Amino acid sequence: MSPSTLAIETVGLSKFFGRRCAARAINLAIPQGAVFGFLGPNGAGKTTTIRMLLGLVRPTSGNGRILGYDIQRERAAILPYIGALVESPAFYPYLSGQDNLRILMRTARQENPRRIAQVLEQVALTHCANDRVRTYSLGMKQRLAIAATLLNHPRILFLDEPTNGLDPAGTVEIRQLIRQLGSAGHTIFLSSHQLHEVEQVCTDVAIINRGQMITQGRVTDLTREGAALLVTAEPLALLQVVAERFGVQPQVLDTHTARVPLASEQIPKLVAALVNAGAEVHQVTPQHSTLEQRFLELTAAGNGAPTTPDQPAHR
Ligand SMILES: Nc1ncnc2c1ncn2[C@@H]1O[C@H](COP(=O)(O)OP(=O)(O)OP(=O)(O)O)[C@@H](O)[C@H]1O
Ligand SMILES: [Mg+2]
Repeated sequence: MSPSTLAIETVGLSKFFGRRCAARAINLAIPQGAVFGFLGPNGAGKTTTIRMLLGLVRPTSGNGRILGYDIQRERAAILPYIGALVESPAFYPYLSGQDNLRILMRTARQENPRRIAQVLEQVALTHCANDRVRTYSLGMKQRLAIAATLLNHPRILFLDEPTNGLDPAGTVEIRQLIRQLGSAGHTIFLSSHQLHEVEQVCTDVAIINRGQMITQGRVTDLTREGAALLVTAEPLALLQVVAERFGVQPQVLDTHTARVPLASEQIPKLVAALVNAGAEVHQVTPQHSTLEQRFLELTAAGNGAPTTPDQPAHR
């Protein structure tokens, strides 16, 4: 398969449970090497989409490809390339982390102690490889679960809300691990209901709600798009001059305030330029990016409610 082959591609992928629409016409195009965030509130259809991609549930209509292979007809060809953490996997609590991984490898008819040591090292569990899993914290168990998905050197990792239930320290560790895995060349499909998590670790994102995709694109594009600064400065005429140097046109709102289409990273430079030009800067307030705006709308009260029945029953 060529490097230009998409890691994951879906066309019209849909799933109905009876009359309930869990995912409708999902079109994804995820390049190899992307750290892709699949963002949506509870019940949006994230897990259902992942389960379809993994061949765990049959799509009602549409189709998908992983590394060019059909997700329904060529599952056996796909399996060696993927690792997945969908529901918290069950480990034997009375065995050590290392022994649990050994059992998982044996189930796949493999035996490779070096690989086990490598993945434990990758998730920073070497120091407690021989401790019983019963003694692990939730975050350590989650890292062990990620280690298990890495055993077969997968190119694509599916992680379904891997930071769910973790405390802030555990969450940071998992995010760092995801970033490392992304830098190491893995394609990552990360589902999450946290915007800032996706912004922090992902290169690409799609927002899903009530089974439908709302938007998708590069995180940098979507966070820049629609973002602006509300600037209160005197005299406002100087803002007009300075904004031109940034290549943008301010929109004057009142005698002292204008909306400047710049992202919040530009605040220090803009303020410095204004002060240098002799203006008094009273206030600079960032306005929401498109991504943030859409996500806030979706997660507003009531929007995370389960989907309503709206289609004839067919499986
Ligand atoms: N096996 C099933 N039978 C019937 N309905 C289902 C089934 N699995 C999921 N659903 C419904 O499909 C919709 C999408 O569920 P899904 O689990 O994919 O959402 P999610 O985005 O993963 O949510 P969460 O963030 O809570 O994990 C929900 O309305 C859910 O109730
Ligand atoms: Mg889910």
